[in-house]
Amino acid sequence: MTEEEMEHPPVNLPKVELHTHIEGAAQPDFIRQLAFEKKTDISGIFDARGAYKYQGFLEFLQVYEAATTVLKSPEDFRRLTLSVLENAAQNGVIYMESFLSPEFCGGADVGAWNEYLHAIQDGAAEAEKKYGIAMRGVVTCIRHFGPDKAKLTAICAAETAGDFVTGFGMGGDENAGHQRDFLWAYDCAREAGLGLTTHAGEWRGPQEVRDAIDDLKVTRIGHGVRCIEDMRLVEHLAEREITLEVCPGSNVALGVYLDLKSHPIERLRAYGVKVTVSTDDPPFFHTTMQQEYAGLTKTFGWDTRHFKEITLNAVAAAFCDQATKDALTKRLEDAF
Ligand code: ADE
Ligand code: ZN
Repeated sequence: MTEEEMEHPPVNLPKVELHTHIEGAAQPDFIRQLAFEKKTDISGIFDARGAYKYQGFLEFLQVYEAATTVLKSPEDFRRLTLSVLENAAQNGVIYMESFLSPEFCGGADVGAWNEYLHAIQDGAAEAEKKYGIAMRGVVTCIRHFGPDKAKLTAICAAETAGDFVTGFGMGGDENAGHQRDFLWAYDCAREAGLGLTTHAGEWRGPQEVRDAIDDLKVTRIGHGVRCIEDMRLVEHLAEREITLEVCPGSNVALGVYLDLKSHPIERLRAYGVKVTVSTDDPPFFHTTMQQEYAGLTKTFGWDTRHFKEITLNAVAAAFCDQATKDALTKRLEDAF
């Protein structure tokens, strides 16, 4: 590897992201523009330089939810989707799964959700045409909003399951309740044929990851990195080929790990766990996919071989149909 490559992995390496939150990917300027149009004052969520301002995970969730208050109409979500995909495509992302929360799109009402979803799909279709990036939606409940809201969200997911909505997930405060509280929602989503993931092992330890697999029967875990604290679980994940949606920049920004050097992604990869790399909520964590790649190269010496491995892991675990996976694999084989 040349010195140049150590600092800057080629931006044109095609990338696949499985773990992004559509609202969390909104640039501060985009949110400020909507606030201006709607004459809403949310200036308190920005620092002097205009970045999102928060300290720690719970305040991050509050600022995140405050930012979503200016995302009011389906048209706002169409514009957001186009803007998020443009940024991702500039970082070489060719396929992205994004968490969509009906709770922020008309209060998890199926009728309203259908309108928001159509608008999001319009934005995604325009981005695919303009920037060559494909997107799929993973309908996502918010853990600290509770199991009853999650049921409504699962019904929204089941009613709209298809070519675009291909998965179901859960984000929010991992310290609220238990994975099993959301059994009904996950059973509903599974019966609708959706792929399943949940945030686990970001804030709580290995037991949370076990609960996610045993109780909710997910095939992917959002984060999951704290499984490293239990080697039997690590072996189990590797054997079962459970894919981790690892977001190193997010984990460091929120203080799960002190720095990238102490992050377990390379150890997990070396133990045979199917790891992938995503940005989670890029502007909140001052990251991009290109920066994630640069950090992994600089810290762990990852090169094209490693990036090909994690990108193929991501395609294998993606919730899209086989024809889309085949097309992505072909693009990757041509590029790597
Ligand atoms: N929602 C958005 N980002 C999240 C994260 N990192 N963990 C849990 N919920 C989230
Ligand atoms: Zn997340």
